[in-house]
Formats: sequence, structure tokens, C-alpha cells
Amino acid sequence: MRTQVAIVGAGPAGLTLAHLLHLEGIDSVVLEARSREYVEQRVRAGVLEQGTVDLLSAMGVAERLHREGIVHHGIELRFDRRGYRIPLTDLTGRSITIYGQQEVVRDLIAARLDTERPLLFEVEDVSVHDVASDRPAVRFRYEGAAQELECDVIAGCDGFHGVCRDSIPAGVLTTYSREYPFGWLGILAAVAPSSDELIYASHERGFALHSLRSPDLSRLYLQCAPDEDLADWPDERIWEELHMRFELDGWALHEGPVLEKGVTGMRSFVVEPMQYGRLYLAGDAAHIVPPTGAKGLNLAVADVRVLAGGLVEWYATGDTALLETYSATCLKRAWRAEHFSYFMTHMLHRLDGDPFDAKLQRAQLEYVCSSEAAATSLAENYVGPAYVG
Ligand code: APR
Ligand code: PHB
Repeated sequence: MRTQVAIVGAGPAGLTLAHLLHLEGIDSVVLEARSREYVEQRVRAGVLEQGTVDLLSAMGVAERLHREGIVHHGIELRFDRRGYRIPLTDLTGRSITIYGQQEVVRDLIAARLDTERPLLFEVEDVSVHDVASDRPAVRFRYEGAAQELECDVIAGCDGFHGVCRDSIPAGVLTTYSREYPFGWLGILAAVAPSSDELIYASHERGFALHSLRSPDLSRLYLQCAPDEDLADWPDERIWEELHMRFELDGWALHEGPVLEKGVTGMRSFVVEPMQYGRLYLAGDAAHIVPPTGAKGLNLAVADVRVLAGGLVEWYATGDTALLETYSATCLKRAWRAEHFSYFMTHMLHRLDGDPFDAKLQRAQLEYVCSSEAAATSLAENYVGPAYVG
């Protein structure tokens, strides 16, 4: 098998890249370890920056997103049993859209299948080879048979636990990371959202987030231990804890059947550079943010937009200038998102330890809720940059 761009991973990064390349007439093969059902059902993040929506629209894959996505113009920060609205659109001119990551993935898979270009699910034993040469290759097993895919370039879009990053020789990458001493217990509940906008609550019992997926589906999170045992959390205990953390006079949290439950760890992680030879890392394969800033999916899409631009220029003219700056361009945005996600995480979570930290945290919360300059800074990071061009 031969193609121009071998794409490892069919998450938002891999699938968006595949479609951007298709629109420019560039051939690719997408290799995914999981089944189609699995990737389409995996519940992940749900906040799209306006730039992400604009890009998906320009790619012609946003018809359902515009129909079912819910545009939000503000978020609420809640602490001391009071709520403060950050008016995102008034402060920045931009909005966010609530649309589940798996819905984006579903739309992109449908678009890919329509192009009749290859997207292989349930591939096994994926390994990347000769990336320092100009004839790299990906080996894998598909339907029981060993395969070799020769290509010009490999896009490592295989997430944090993928194989591409680890195939880069020792000493090339520098890793920067931070682990947090907490995780999020998330539920999807069949009940109308209790608020029109997202609520980020900072409470002495821990952080809680109220989000949604549709007019009948709420998505809620609770700060918990990173290795919290779900067995200790029957639904009644989850609701009881949520009621306490969101408590506000005149406001009630609606309960409903819990459809899905899970615990996610939180970490910040970046590798530099995001490229080695003909292997380009994109999305979670290169960087992870804690979910408090709602940036993961948006960063993944931003990376592959830059990568697609570089590949298009290279195939059209032979000029490698944009490919050479791929890593630096993406890292600039990634580090801004790393800082913002760290900032939001520290401002909102219960930090066990030094009471001085707790006082600083409170001062920061009061500042963003009372200063238009501080609120604008939060808002412009939350909505993300507008894409140029
Ligand atoms: N071979 C092929 N596919 C693989 C391999 C492998 N060895 N390892 C992992 N994959 C697949 C995973 O099954 C997954 O479908 O790569 C895909 C990576 O997708 P994501 O993890 O969704 O990563 P990305 O596309 O970068 O999107 C980032 O995902 O984790 C969230 O918050 C994060 O929203 C952000 C988004
Ligand atoms: C979600 O809806 O899943 C969600 C929303 C905002 C976040 C993280 C997750 O910051």
C-alpha cells in the first residue's frame, strides 16, 4: 500500500486532517485501533471554540453541528453561594458551541466514508518506521494480515497513549508535565440542564461543573481523587454531592437517570518539538490539558489545520517553510492553552495544603468576578483565538 499521508488515529485530530487534505486533493490513509462504534460512542469533551466551528463549517462538515449544537454567550462562576456571569460574547465578540466530541467524530467519519478514501478501523500492532528518511512507512495488522503502508509523511494523531510519540528516538523530545492530585467524576444524565449556561463551581468540598449535551441531557462533573473508585459512588451519593457543591438560593439542580459514569485523571503535558523527520505529532499525542479550560479538542483541530496548510504548500510548490515552522506555530498556541487550563484548574479546585494558597485562590476568583479587565482576559482565553485567513 502507498499513500501520501499516513494518519495514525481517528480522533478529532486525525479525522479533521484527513478531510482538510481530501479537500485539497491530497491522499491519505487513516488507521484506527478501535472500532467505529467505540470511537463514535466514547463520551469526551463538549465545548467548541468559535474558531473550531468556523473551520468545520468551511470544511463542509458542520451541517448537523449548526442544527444541534447549542451556542453559548456566557459562563457562570459560582462560589460562596453566589453566581457571577462572565459574558463571553459581550467581552470578546465570540461565542462557544456545545456539541459533544463524539458527535464531531461521527460527522467526520461520515464525511470520510463519503470521500471513499481509506479509513481502517480495528487495526492492530501499529508501528512507524524510517521517519528520519524520505520514505517512511507504517506497519500494522488488518483483518489478520500484516500490512505495510509507504508514505511521504506520517501524522501521529493517536492520542496520549498512542505509539507515534514513543517511536521518536530518546533524546529528541523534551517533556514538560504536571500531575494534579485530583480527578473528575463525570456523569451524563437524562434530564434537562438546570441552567442555560455552563457553571464552574468552586466549593469547600471541591470543584463541580454543570454542562450539557442537549435540551434533555445534562453533563456534570465533581472533583474527586485521581484514582477514585466508582463503586463508592452510587447515583444518590453523586447527586447529593452535586447539590451541595452547586448550592445557591433560588436555584435547583434537576436530577435524572444516570446514563454514563466515569473518572478521568487530570494532567498537563507537552512534548517539544512536535515533529521528528517525516513524523508530525498532533493533538493529544503532543499535548494534554486538564479539562477545566475546555481546550483539548480545540487544540487538536488547531494543530492539524497548521499541518494541513504546511502539507498543501509542500505538495503544491515543494516549499517546506510552513512544515518547518509547524512545531513552533502549534506550541505557541498549545502553551497559551496550557497556561489557561492550569490557571482555571488552580482557581477553581479545592487545593489541600497551605491556607495561603486558598486565600490567593479566593482573591483571584473575586478579581475575575469584579474586574472587567480580568473577566475579559478569562473570556478571550476561554473562547479561543479567531482564526485568521
Ligand atoms: N494505532 C491507531 N490508532 C490509535 C493507536 C494506535 N496505536 N493508539 C491510539 N489510537 C487512536 C485512539 O483509539 C483514538 O481514537 O487514536 C485516536 C486518538 O484520538 P483522541 O484521543 O481523541 O485524540 P485527538 O484526536 O488528539 O483529540 C484530542 O481528545 O482526549 C480528548 O480532550 C481531548 O478533546 C481532546 C481530544
Ligand atoms: C463538557 O461538557 O464535557 C465540558 C465542558 C466544559 C469543560 C470540560 C468539559 O471545561
